[in-house]
Amino acid sequence: MEKLVSLCKRRGFMFQSSEIYGGINGFWDYGPLGVELKRNIKDAWWHDMITAHDELDVRPGAPSTYEMTGLDCTIIMHPQVWKVSGHQDLFSDMMVDCKESKGRYRYDQLRGRWVEAKGQKVFVTTKVEAEEEDEDLQRRALKFFNLRAKNVEELSWDGDTVSLETISEFENVLAPEAKSVGSLTEPREFNLMFKTIVGAMGTEADTAFLRPETAQGIFVNFKNVVDSTRVKIPFGIAQVGKSFRNEITPRNFTFRSREFEQMEIEFFCHPDSSRKWYEYWRDRRMQWYKDLGLAGERLQLRDHAPDELSHYSTGTADIEYAFPFLPEGEYGELEGIAHRGDFDLRSHMEGKLDPNTCPLEVEKGEDGKPKYRGSGKDLTYRDPETNEKYLPHVIEPSAGADRATLAFLCEAYQEDEQPDDKGKMQTRVVMKLHPRIAPVKAAVFPLVKKEGMPEIAKDVYRALKAKFPAVYDEKGAVGRRYRRQDEAGTPYCITIDGDTLTDKTVTIRDRDSLEQWRVKLDDVVEEIAGRVS
Ligand code: GAP
Repeated sequence: MEKLVSLCKRRGFMFQSSEIYGGINGFWDYGPLGVELKRNIKDAWWHDMITAHDELDVRPGAPSTYEMTGLDCTIIMHPQVWKVSGHQDLFSDMMVDCKESKGRYRYDQLRGRWVEAKGQKVFVTTKVEAEEEDEDLQRRALKFFNLRAKNVEELSWDGDTVSLETISEFENVLAPEAKSVGSLTEPREFNLMFKTIVGAMGTEADTAFLRPETAQGIFVNFKNVVDSTRVKIPFGIAQVGKSFRNEITPRNFTFRSREFEQMEIEFFCHPDSSRKWYEYWRDRRMQWYKDLGLAGERLQLRDHAPDELSHYSTGTADIEYAFPFLPEGEYGELEGIAHRGDFDLRSHMEGKLDPNTCPLEVEKGEDGKPKYRGSGKDLTYRDPETNEKYLPHVIEPSAGADRATLAFLCEAYQEDEQPDDKGKMQTRVVMKLHPRIAPVKAAVFPLVKKEGMPEIAKDVYRALKAKFPAVYDEKGAVGRRYRRQDEAGTPYCITIDGDTLTDKTVTIRDRDSLEQWRVKLDDVVEEIAGRVS
């Protein structure tokens, strides 16, 4: 992971936000290569799910034909949206505070291990990433017991490293940045929504929130979309956009950020066919990642066990990836596909529902009235053919654009041995990104800067550039130019050499197989276009 992080910075995939001021935790910027990569991933998603969707044919695995449409709604919405959706009351993580260091940590993310020395037993905790855990625990234990490294055998460890959640009393817990034990508070809830103020008055009544998910914008526009277009159920509304969560401990590069982008679909269908649609979307979304290169065993589909499901849902699955920063055997969520029943549309119609009631009921306040009122608008759907009126069920495939980008980067990073210009074997770092998402599709090199080669190369470059991102490079030995492009993930390099001047052909080199073949100058654009689309 360290190598990937350093490559991302060195080659301009990703930078820490506001880095020249020391950075800001949980916020990341995409550099010149990163912005193209992430844009290509979002474009591929939008193209494959929405614009290229053929609503006239039944797709393999789908119960029937369906329509897809898009939306782009605001980040700040009416505050009632978040009351009714449950985010104001329930969108929280448990946290613990350290009274000594004033640090705040996510309860489920702090890990530690029991250790005994000098007649005292302490649960030492750490907040570092999995691979550095053991080292950090030992360093902290030595410091706490005032021992030197050479006396490490005086530490007697008991059991494995476990979550703080397994510890019932904190009096012998050494917090991650504390010098003495017993400084952690009891766990309490921390709402993850970012607050902001709308307007100049600045009163409590002007408080609004940055959306923590794009989904609610789709639900509150359901009626607008149905009334303004000719879409008929079953259909999906898709949205790509920023979401914000004030994560207590953002970490693992961009995996848990405070500002990130989501790619969400809310798919509206008849309750009777909703289970089949859920299965369709779960499999369709899994295949999408595979088609773009996450084909290995690091990708998995995990169906939630029945006891993990809300009672109004008949299925939820996560598409997960074994990110290299996670402990061996652990996977991180890339996308969740959830059967949400009619929970969301009903909430926005009637008021916040109590998710623990079965059948679902509107949650009441102390006065016996709905705790948070819904819009009161009729969000039911009337089938134009059967005249049946019903509240549609929702299937929600909800993906993170940043997590997808990170997974594609992790999967792409490879090292191999290749000869340099002098035939000496060297380690080559290569980003084997799928050509569709690679930031740059082709690089054009004149072999030497004379004999008219640069002129021909520039013409080829301009012809390519008119169609897709390409680069022109005439600096340094050709082997070094290849290496630069391999690190950037450029799938094809085109070299103009002596033969070009006589037979009007160029060499194309494949980044992954290193195969080289000659193509007529006039056919280069078509050849590359056919391979990268
Ligand atoms: N509307 C449902 C929803 O938002 P979620 O599981 O909370 O569900 C969906 O989020 C996806 O958004 C996740 O699978 C992940 O890819 C992405 N995501 C969520 N929190 C994130 C964070 N803090 N940083 C980066 N991506 C995040």
